[in-house]
Amino acid sequence: MKVNFVDLKKQYENIKKEITEAINYTINNTSFILGKEVEEFEKNFAKFCGKEYAIGVASGTDALKLVIKSLDIKDGEVITTSNTFIATALAITDNNLKPVFVDINPDTYNIDVNKIEDKISKNTKAIIVVHLYGQPADMDKIIEIADKHNLKIIEDCCQAHGAEYRGKRVPITDIGCFSFYPCKNLGAYGDGGMIVTNDKELNKKLKAMRNYGSEIKYYHDFIGFNSRLDSIQAGILNVKLKYLEKWNNQRIKNAKLYDYLLKDIVETPKIDKNVKSVYHLYVIKCKKRDELQKFLTENEISIGIHYPIPIHIQKAYSYLSYKEGDLPETEKVAKEILSLPMYPELTEDEIRYICDKIKEFYKK
Ligand SMILES: Cc1ncc(COP(=O)(O)O)c(C=O)c1O
Repeated sequence: MKVNFVDLKKQYENIKKEITEAINYTINNTSFILGKEVEEFEKNFAKFCGKEYAIGVASGTDALKLVIKSLDIKDGEVITTSNTFIATALAITDNNLKPVFVDINPDTYNIDVNKIEDKISKNTKAIIVVHLYGQPADMDKIIEIADKHNLKIIEDCCQAHGAEYRGKRVPITDIGCFSFYPCKNLGAYGDGGMIVTNDKELNKKLKAMRNYGSEIKYYHDFIGFNSRLDSIQAGILNVKLKYLEKWNNQRIKNAKLYDYLLKDIVETPKIDKNVKSVYHLYVIKCKKRDELQKFLTENEISIGIHYPIPIHIQKAYSYLSYKEGDLPETEKVAKEILSLPMYPELTEDEIRYICDKIKEFYKK
């Protein structure tokens, strides 16, 4: 049996008619840039997140980048994790700030809240909290630390659409950044991103910033960017948003079956009691990871590693002078983690097949 890591075609087949209508709508009205589809999706997504405002931008990376810029965070350090997609760090360095990486909690893979304060210096300006793999980080403690040291919090929710912390959807604090990269829990048919907030002034500033720094056409109050969510993508996302909760629940159901079938074989994800994970990824920790990866690939099961090389030891960031051993938990898990196929349409038969193959591997 061949099992894909994600299967966007399967999802498309179920919503084809609505998607075609949405695309045709934009093509016929020709408002390709900042059309009313964008405004409608911003309204719907803000509501989904329990926030007042949403600003559609070109990608999750841009969402993070523009937020940092709009908060006027300059000349300093931003705390985050090294076990995340590179974009989290890129948004920091693109603003000429220095990323300072804190080790992770090896159970949740999120920032180890007990290690944050050791990394705070007089130059620290903000914390970018990543809710990795769909599981929110320990926000109570992070808020407490940020308040104590007067730091801004930005939540990287790019893998956590609809995830909850103490019964509330992320972002828990005032600013959350989302990606609509196609394979995300809510994915566009191209690039896309969003910032959500309750801050009226920030909303106003970001709406201008994404549009050349302009509120009124050809009047530029500050130096901005061209970073907008396309109307076609917004129309598609408006259709898909209606299904997000159902799809997240299917992911959770799939995760429970994996948990049950794999519990004595490998280390299955540990989800904190205060959170609802939406399982953007289902990440196991296992012995002989590379051999298992090879075996599953040979058996036509597509798997992934998120992420094989932590950011602090990536060549691109060698100028920061981190060395191996600086973030031991992050580096250790990078050698043991394996992401199994995870998407709402994954069938019970497919999950059973994958788990049978994993069992077969460890019996050899
Ligand atoms: C944690 C995280 N942050 C940021 C991003 C960047 O989003 P995008 O690919 O839309 O730029 C991604 C996804 O790709 C991500 O997973």
